[in-house]
Amino acid sequence: MADSIEILDALIAAEEIARRVDEMAADIHKDYVDRRRSLSVIVVLKGACFFAVDLLKRLDLPIRLDFIKASSYTRMGSTGEVRLHSDIHMPIAETDVLIVEDIIDTGLTAAWLKRHLASHEPASLRLCTLLDKPEARVVPVEPDYTGFTIPNVFVLGYGLDYDEEYRNLPAIYVARSAQGGG
Ligand code: IMP
Ligand code: MG
Repeated sequence: MADSIEILDALIAAEEIARRVDEMAADIHKDYVDRRRSLSVIVVLKGACFFAVDLLKRLDLPIRLDFIKASSYTRMGSTGEVRLHSDIHMPIAETDVLIVEDIIDTGLTAAWLKRHLASHEPASLRLCTLLDKPEARVVPVEPDYTGFTIPNVFVLGYGLDYDEEYRNLPAIYVARSAQGGG
């Protein structure tokens, strides 16, 4: 039986997310607007898809889009290993690659994804994440674009799940496990 969780306070309101996503799109635009190569955006499924759609709609640049599905996580704790569930299908060699993640926690997934995508020999490779939990880091990974740096708490909503639920909450909430719950 699945452990249940208790949703605590809202950590980041929907309006605050929208404001920050605007700023991130402006930063990314500034960095890539003068480049002559294609920008290949690789969205990490499933959690980053809400953030990626909002970010990319605000980005006035020609992009190529693909998805990758990898995880290092089971419920509320990291398993410490990364599994590739679905790889990219678009060629990215000699293009500028931007990885879009929902959250960097231990850093295992992002470090693995960077190594994996670097093996395709892109012209450049950068990492963009909505949330960063630097206190939880096990392997060193430094995102190039960070929406919000948050404490080492478990969060839900705006793409982030607990056991595949709660992704469609419009804001980001702190959750904790409710021992003995259904
Ligand atoms: P990492 O490999 O430990 O950095 O974990 C990254 C992945 O774990 C993210 O893409 C999320 O899917 C998941 N994750 C990490 N922290 C949280 C959280 O607080 N809430 C929901 N999912 C999380
Ligand atoms: Mg998840």
